[in-house]
Amino acid sequence: MAKGQKIIVGLDIGTTKICAIVGEIVDDKRIDITGIGTHPSRGLKKGMVSNIDSTVESIKRAIEEAELMSGVEINSVYTGIAGGHIQGLNGHGVIAVKDGEISASDVERVMDAARVVAIPSDREVLHVIPQEFVVDGQDGIKDPLSMSGMRLEARVHIITGAVTSAQNLVKCIQRCSLKALDVILQPLASSEAVLTQEEKDLGVLVVDIGGGTTDIAIFVDGAVRHTAVLPIGGNHLTNDVAIGLRTSPLEAEKIKIHYGCALTELVEENDTIEVPGIGGRPARLMSRRLLSEVIEPRAQEIFKLVHAEVEKAGFEEKIPSGVVITGGTSIMPGMIEVCEQKLSLPTRLGAPSDLGGLIDIVRSPVYSTAVGLILYAFRYHKEKAVEEPPAEKEPLLGQIKHRMQDWVKEFF
Ligand SMILES: Nc1ncnc2c1ncn2[C@@H]1O[C@H](COP(=O)(O)OP(=O)(O)OP(=O)(O)O)[C@@H](O)[C@H]1O
Ligand SMILES: [Mg+2]
Repeated sequence: MAKGQKIIVGLDIGTTKICAIVGEIVDDKRIDITGIGTHPSRGLKKGMVSNIDSTVESIKRAIEEAELMSGVEINSVYTGIAGGHIQGLNGHGVIAVKDGEISASDVERVMDAARVVAIPSDREVLHVIPQEFVVDGQDGIKDPLSMSGMRLEARVHIITGAVTSAQNLVKCIQRCSLKALDVILQPLASSEAVLTQEEKDLGVLVVDIGGGTTDIAIFVDGAVRHTAVLPIGGNHLTNDVAIGLRTSPLEAEKIKIHYGCALTELVEENDTIEVPGIGGRPARLMSRRLLSEVIEPRAQEIFKLVHAEVEKAGFEEKIPSGVVITGGTSIMPGMIEVCEQKLSLPTRLGAPSDLGGLIDIVRSPVYSTAVGLILYAFRYHKEKAVEEPPAEKEPLLGQIKHRMQDWVKEFF
């Protein structure tokens, strides 16, 4: 890395691909994308690491490629976490203010009070994100520091997950001789890359439909109100196509990407596709509508589950900005329409924008999480969001503990 050059690396460890993106900090407001490396991921199931060795191999390849393209050496990364084990809930804490003026320690105390919720012993608090503070009954306060008051309340969004999942991610990263600077919830990262501030203020739902998971985040009044990770994604569509069209998963994936459509009525009636046979059988010509008829029910199921999650959380009437869909599976024609039908909300496709450098290469919904990790780190970790020289390795558990403390501190 050239002297004085500051970089942030986002490492998205997804179910279908591992992707490293290098962002160079130009000034306080601008980041240029200078490199990207992607490699197929084979060691994950439904968003979680299930094979350390093959995940390590893919991370190494993605990092090497990103280093080559950007011309910098990568020593540390920000990564994301997802999986069905993630749960989000809202918490509330109240304290009496000591000297009539709110100090940093009062804010820390009220955050501690808010995070005290009953959590099963196999789970840990991953993020505690303030939504708003209330001072002597006055709500909607974003930063209460130095305000006068007697009673301070905090409303927070608490994200919990299985600690072993985070440990496995960090372990893979360390085995590549890299340092994990933070582990960020994937839907929060994607939101950074695809949502506007206006949408977050008004109320919006972001749905990142990847290969193994569908990640959800709801923002209202500028803050996260609900998060969830559903264990369903594009891989299910591929399996359905393989079974429905009697072809191999590899061919099914190609056919899905080239000809797939989530809404049958959008496909011309006499459109045909060629389906390679399995086990030496000859290729067959098939109606493209038939392919769509296989995909449509699963696409509907994904959005039905998303709708049920939004309804359960009580946000159906609170997201006038509608839905932003992103992630690889959102690219499929017809997904916007099926989402609009199932959720009865205006829907748009979201992809990274508003960055410099090689933005044209990363302007795809596939890269929302990796770019979002860079933007999240830039926004919330200003003081340490830069590439550091490799440090002495701390024991794994010690690192995770420090990071969890950082997650609480990062917003102040
Ligand atoms: N043009 C396309 N049309 C349809 N599906 C697509 C297209 N491009 C990619 N996909 C699908 O998107 C999925 C991969 O998306 P993405 O890269 O966002 O997932 P991931 O981050 O690896 O997985 P996850 O986030 O679930 O862990 C695959 O199932 C792939 O088939
Ligand atoms: Mg993903």
